[in-house]
Amino acid sequence: PGIKDLFTSDFYIGAALSGRDVQSQTKELMVPLRSNFNSLSPENLLKWQSIHPEPERFNFDLADRYVEMGEGLDCHLVGHTLVWHKQTPQWVFQHEDGTVRSKEELSSLMENHIQVVMGRYKGRIDTWDVVNEAFTDDGQFRQSTWFNVLGEDFIKLAFQTAHETDPKAELYYNDYNVWKPKKTDGILAFTSKMRDEGINIHGIGMQCHLGLEYPTLDQLKETIEKIVDHGFNISITELDIDVLPNPSGRQGADIDANFPYEAQYDPYKNGLPNELKEKLANRYRDIFRLFLKYRDHIDRVTFWGVRDQDSWLNNWPIPGRTAYPLLFDEDYGLKNYLLDILVDLKEN
Ligand code: G3I
Repeated sequence: PGIKDLFTSDFYIGAALSGRDVQSQTKELMVPLRSNFNSLSPENLLKWQSIHPEPERFNFDLADRYVEMGEGLDCHLVGHTLVWHKQTPQWVFQHEDGTVRSKEELSSLMENHIQVVMGRYKGRIDTWDVVNEAFTDDGQFRQSTWFNVLGEDFIKLAFQTAHETDPKAELYYNDYNVWKPKKTDGILAFTSKMRDEGINIHGIGMQCHLGLEYPTLDQLKETIEKIVDHGFNISITELDIDVLPNPSGRQGADIDANFPYEAQYDPYKNGLPNELKEKLANRYRDIFRLFLKYRDHIDRVTFWGVRDQDSWLNNWPIPGRTAYPLLFDEDYGLKNYLLDILVDLKEN
């Protein structure tokens, strides 16, 4: 069976695609995509910087191709992302002389961007990450230009505009480290208040860039329960499991400049030792077992990429890593040790 078939009655199984994937659509990619995934996400090509690089210029070529490709594969399609502080051109936030835009300017730029981009794919892209990463790990609003100029209303404006643009689309708030209690609490306090004011929001996207040991299953479980208790659906939007240590993985820590991490530190570049394959497989089994428990509330589980070698984790926090986080190896071979353990999980 393909991975999607294992979980048909549970949730969509998705993969994020790079611009190169969408451009080339090689047979090597299309064959495993067709049999294993029933949802797609765009890794970068729908971000503001890619699709709307200049005030009067939109760049729809790749996004059009992405949507056509997804329809050809009969996939549930994700739009990622409308409003974010990253991968957004400077002109959005500032005038040419460097002065920051006014409230009126920034809100009308946001509304226009959402209306044009979402409007173009109305009824075709099923679900959108409307706002991405607006909270810090301690549950405060991130001090982005969006927040500094518009205040917390920027999140409401984004969801309102998105709902008006495509009333049938599912609208998500998406973030990383959602397992950190203060962060989850901050997000849920705000999003439920917003919903109670009548603003449409379907659910919370938990990115789930995980390590082998962190966060613990209990931490994830508590988070999922909290979100469910608040009446929201959940999508696992960016799943991968990094076998290497990394600074943000350490309990309670944000990026830590003193983390002893050297560019040369690439212990498994010639292959993953068997004991780590086993750890990775067990970790995927435990994580999916947990997701299955909440299958009534989890809409979708999306892997942030198809093959290991294309993963962003090989470049983060610094380039030159070999992280083995995904389901497929370099030749688009589905890793048997992961497939077997997922089949086993579903059968037992
Ligand atoms: O395309 C250019 C290329 O022309 C250039 O030569 C090269 C040199 O740096 O950069 C290439 O662009 C890179 C781009 O990925 C495409 O590969 C950017 O530098 C790089 O910053 C960008 O990284 C993306 C990252 O978001 C940026 O924030 C990752 O691919 C993408 O996986 C990652 O995805 C995010 C989600 O959107 C939100 N959640 C976290 C997740 C992981 O960071």
